[in-house]
Amino acid sequence: MRSHYCGEINEAHLEQEIELCGWVHRRRDHGGVIFIDLRDREGIVQVVYDPDRADSFAIAESIRSEYVVRLKGRVRARPEGTSNAKMKTGQIEVLGLDLEILNSSETPPIQVDGDVEVNEETRLRYRYIDLRRPEMLEKIRLRRDVTLNLRRFLEDENFYEIETPFLTKATPEGARDYLVPSRTHENCFFALPQSPQLFKQLLMIAGMDRYYQVVRCFRDEDLRADRQPEFTQLDIETSFMDEVQIMGLMETMIRRLFSEVIDVQLPDEFPQITYAKAMDLYGTDRPDLRNPLVLTDVGDLMATVEFKVFSGPAKSEDGRVAALRVPGAGSLSRKEIDDYTKFVSIYGAKGLAYIKVNDRAAGIEGLQSPILKFLPDDVVEAIMQRTEAETGDIVFFGADKTKVVNESIGALRDKIGKDQGLLKGKWRPVWVIDFPMFDWDEKANRWNAIHHPFTAPSCSAEALKENTGQALSRAYDLVLNGTEVGGGSIRIHKTGMQQVVFDLLGMDAEESQEKFGFLLDALKYGCPPHGGIAFGLDRLVMIMAGASTIRDVMAFPKTQTAACPLTNAPAMVSDQQLKELGIRLRKPPVVETK
Ligand code: AMO
Ligand code: AMP
Repeated sequence: MRSHYCGEINEAHLEQEIELCGWVHRRRDHGGVIFIDLRDREGIVQVVYDPDRADSFAIAESIRSEYVVRLKGRVRARPEGTSNAKMKTGQIEVLGLDLEILNSSETPPIQVDGDVEVNEETRLRYRYIDLRRPEMLEKIRLRRDVTLNLRRFLEDENFYEIETPFLTKATPEGARDYLVPSRTHENCFFALPQSPQLFKQLLMIAGMDRYYQVVRCFRDEDLRADRQPEFTQLDIETSFMDEVQIMGLMETMIRRLFSEVIDVQLPDEFPQITYAKAMDLYGTDRPDLRNPLVLTDVGDLMATVEFKVFSGPAKSEDGRVAALRVPGAGSLSRKEIDDYTKFVSIYGAKGLAYIKVNDRAAGIEGLQSPILKFLPDDVVEAIMQRTEAETGDIVFFGADKTKVVNESIGALRDKIGKDQGLLKGKWRPVWVIDFPMFDWDEKANRWNAIHHPFTAPSCSAEALKENTGQALSRAYDLVLNGTEVGGGSIRIHKTGMQQVVFDLLGMDAEESQEKFGFLLDALKYGCPPHGGIAFGLDRLVMIMAGASTIRDVMAFPKTQTAACPLTNAPAMVSDQQLKELGIRLRKPPVVETK
């Protein structure tokens, strides 16, 4: 039906007759001449209809935005002074020779050719129109370019793309499972995979050596801007490679991706930071290294002060007292400080003490703070020295359980860094390594795996049993500008070690056999040492696109309540379907009677 795409017409086509198909992006009536901006996937071109071709002129008069048309025309240079440098096709226009309406369109609920703000519910309900907007199309195109680039790299490196099942058994990645009832096995359910973790390990045992998959994962968890209930991983596994080799290869892949797709040169070697250091300095295991602010421990200085708010956590084994110096922010108003205090309270902080440094040279006299009266002068001076505070700065304090201080002051660091415009550099990747194997779950009174339970420890099984809380794992996360874009590890490849980890997680032999018997079996039949990683493709594209949510880089995302306004999923099903599945609803729907 067409000879060219709209967006590819340029001066090389001058005087050629061409045929185009597309959507009417905009139609303007200019005193006897009608201009149509015609749009297809590749861009927009201006088509002009003169009244001397009466038939097509009449059709041009009748068409409206988003009509689908086909036309023939001749490419010509735009008249002097009318070229448009902002458009790819801005040097030329097409003189319309005929015009056919292929389909009409009602007035769309979302304006395609403008920045009129539309609420997200409407955008998702009419996603097929939302996606026509050039900025959305651009993001989907970027996503395609990213996926293609990654696939090419992995194919060049001899990885096999292999599909793994969606109807499967629970794979623990820390979220709730989406369950699918089985019709043929009464009372039984499949779980949709939270990741293909166990299947990719089985593929290594099968000798596939290098595997990858661009794969959907399903997690029923609380949603945020960078979390969706179904999302895409670039999932990777290799045999006979250690963590240094895997991280090296992945760095090359990510560097090449950024360079080739968005012309960004990432550092030659990504820096690495241990989990412990990241928590100390940034209060989080996904630090944004563009932010120069750091947390400084001052617990040792506070242990003996009378101010219980500080001395309590300072003396407690699971407490922390940390200072956050913000250069040049001494002029923050009372209201701004109150707002930050409110902000940290979201993370459980009970307050936000601060000291303003009005004049460092004036000693204690030069400081301004509601807590000075509670602290001896020598302690205050030691804090000033340790945080390297200078005139014009403010120093904030968090004192509480370590977890609360890390979360609240870590989040404050992010927020103030952005609010005060302190971020430096555009792209700051970092590997976080040496994660602990486990953390203690107080509620459940047992250990939890920090990565998944198939991650290898850095120590022997004996050491793991003896020093469970201190043991480190062979896991690594890739963090970019404060977002965790990927995570992986070297896996356990021996049955004995896997059983020890299951034991420590509170799974007895029977339970581990029931849940993961197939893995424990497989490990007995010549399992090679192996490891891998999975990247959150949506997150990666979100960051590369400069988008603020992963929903913007997914064609059909779900809302914050995990629903799809377009199809109205999830939805109720018929009694007949439930019957076939052997399911009775605990709270049957209320049937309205007339
Ligand atoms: P993990 O659970 O860290 O590891 O997931 C890997 C990456 O997937 C992305 N991600 C998400 N993206 C969008 N929405 C979500 N709900 C979501 N959850 C995770 C993140 C994360 O870094 N099997 C292991 C990988 C391995 O060990 O090889 C796994 O799934 O970017
Ligand atoms: P209060 O004695 O409770 O009025 O607190 C004095 C100052 O300490 C106020 O600026 C509070 O915001 C701050 N503060 C209280 N609790 C904490 C805490 N857990 N961490 C940091 N600052 C706190």
